[in-house]
Amino acid sequence: MTRKSRTLGEFIIENQSDFPYANGELSRLINSIRLAAKVVSHKVNKAGLVDITGAAGEVNIQGENQQKLDVFANETFINSLVNREIVCGIASEENDSFITIKGQNKDHKNKYILLMDPLDGSSNIDVNASVGTVFSIYRRVTPVGTPVTMEDFLQPGNLQVAAGYIVYGTSTILVYSTGNGVNGFTLNPALGTYYLSHPDIKIPEDGTIYSVNEGHYRRFPQGIKNYIKYCQEEKGNRPYTSRYIGSLANDMHRNLLKGGIYMYPSSSKAPKGKLRLLYECNPIAFIVEQAGGKAIDGYQRILDIKPTELHERIPFVCGSSNMVDKVEEFMKEADEN
Ligand code: AHG
Ligand code: MN
Ligand code: MN
Repeated sequence: MTRKSRTLGEFIIENQSDFPYANGELSRLINSIRLAAKVVSHKVNKAGLVDITGAAGEVNIQGENQQKLDVFANETFINSLVNREIVCGIASEENDSFITIKGQNKDHKNKYILLMDPLDGSSNIDVNASVGTVFSIYRRVTPVGTPVTMEDFLQPGNLQVAAGYIVYGTSTILVYSTGNGVNGFTLNPALGTYYLSHPDIKIPEDGTIYSVNEGHYRRFPQGIKNYIKYCQEEKGNRPYTSRYIGSLANDMHRNLLKGGIYMYPSSSKAPKGKLRLLYECNPIAFIVEQAGGKAIDGYQRILDIKPTELHERIPFVCGSSNMVDKVEEFMKEADEN
């Protein structure tokens, strides 16, 4: 059998030995994510035909209008994980607080917690553009057998045991890492099977794509402004190409494959930026680092930041390592002047 025809199910079984302590629990967890992603993918493809576009009428804890598909994706992922009793807690962009899962015997016996952005780039849905899902998995730190606490969720990203994202684009691709490199699986919708389409993804050290919402340019820190000017300068392989989908998972997926940088910096209006540390930046940073790239908040490594709240925001710069290093240089230089 060639590598290309390997299914995600086969891949999970083959790589189970990567987790000597996992008892298949982490594999079952990835399994339920792939199932929920299939359901969401199916729904996304029918948007416009079924009543799933538009606002749900509620505002989430971030003060953002929830879209119907935000709610649907959130419920689909939560149900898939709760029904199979594989995690002891879930935190989501769409829920104010974390959810405790006791298990059928109310014994809180599961070891893992999951954090997620169930639908990333949800404003894209009404215009038939790509959306995604981002997820992060940790081992709980409080004792098995007791209810999870906030401490289990506020772990630094360097303790993630697995992380990944799904892009619902021209095809649906699930990309994940358990700390042994990054692999991508494309869904064949006719069969409902994911195939290993992108084995051992490595991000190029350099790239020529920069992704940032330049509408906020005037509000960015001087170091970021200078870097954007550098990207636009006519010199060597510059100007770089500007590409921005407005869905972190999709923008990063492209930059991961092609080489590039994604930035959601702080601004005078939003000093902590927009993206959420726990279920957007940390999982993407984990994937990018596993692929050989870097992720910083402008100054320090994202994965070393100790979170203080569930929905905490953080400025985010990630992608090809040389490009991220350059931003760090520009930030330092601007601060010294
Ligand atoms: P979400 O749809 O989960 O709220 O996330 C959207 C995020 C991120 O994915 C995207 O890159 C960014 O917000 C877009 O924000 P702007 O519209 O401000 O550029
Ligand atoms: Mn998001
Ligand atoms: Mn979202």
